[in-house]
Amino acid sequence: MKICRTIPSLVEAISRAGRQSIGFVPTMGFLHAGHLSLVERCRQENDLAVVSIFVNPSQFGLNEDLDRYPRDLERDSALLEKERVDLLFLPGRADIYPPGYATYVSVDGLDAVLCGASRPGHFRGVATVVLKLFNLVHPQRAYFGQKDAQQAIIICRMVCDLNLPVQIKVLPIVRDRDGLALSSRNIYLSPAERRAARHLPQALTMAADLISRGVQEAAVLKKAMAEEFAKDRLIQVDYIAVTGLQDLVDLTLIQPGNTLIAAAIRVGKTRLIDNLILGDLSC
Ligand code: PAJ
Repeated sequence: MKICRTIPSLVEAISRAGRQSIGFVPTMGFLHAGHLSLVERCRQENDLAVVSIFVNPSQFGLNEDLDRYPRDLERDSALLEKERVDLLFLPGRADIYPPGYATYVSVDGLDAVLCGASRPGHFRGVATVVLKLFNLVHPQRAYFGQKDAQQAIIICRMVCDLNLPVQIKVLPIVRDRDGLALSSRNIYLSPAERRAARHLPQALTMAADLISRGVQEAAVLKKAMAEEFAKDRLIQVDYIAVTGLQDLVDLTLIQPGNTLIAAAIRVGKTRLIDNLILGDLSC
């Protein structure tokens, strides 16, 4: 695996790879099996597998965890080496945002709801860095997780709106044995918080169960999920949403093939998200 720490070295390595198909997995590192599921699929479907690790400052709010975001580069590179990744891109902050940097991408509307409501500017930072990375790597295919469904929806909108020649593949959520979706931030949780966090996947399982028994009303699903969260006083609900899959507009009744059921909670200082989709996010 070749490690590129600067933009010129990445550009050279990509151009040297020639006309092979390039698959790309952007990450912020501290890799877990969720990330690796994307890397594995990327490896299978492309001649050249490229992964980036960059903790992107522009997607963190002022009071968020940019400086304490977990990092373990040695472990990450060993894992990626084992997955037979060809190229690991590890830019520094000044490579991506040099002095005078002024250009940002906003995916209007989609970036202001759900997670965007409590994280203003977050998706502007995500869209900007992903577009920049696409422009450097030139992937035919890029891989994202359903775990961050709104992120995937926003990237798909950007790819479509800006005519980017890349196919976005969105892969299923990888979970721990207790059902909690894997996340680099799960290490922040104390044992009691971890127990509380399980109510998040349980609430979604309950919603899936209600749907399989014929419930269609968003209000009924949201109420059942809220009741699940009320079982643990360590949980503070950020949002519970039932929306369309492309437009993120609230639904009154679920639509088979076009529904996102998503929730964000705070457990202590840690914000956790999870979701269930009826339909397909890839584009
Ligand atoms: P990061 O949180 O490191 O996630 C990188 C990719 O892994 C994202 O596409 C995310 O959805 C996926 N992922 C995370 N947890 C997962 C899980 N449990 N199962 C499956 N996939 C999972 O998302 C980001 O980084 C950044 O916003 C980024 C896109 C790199 C832009 O900075």
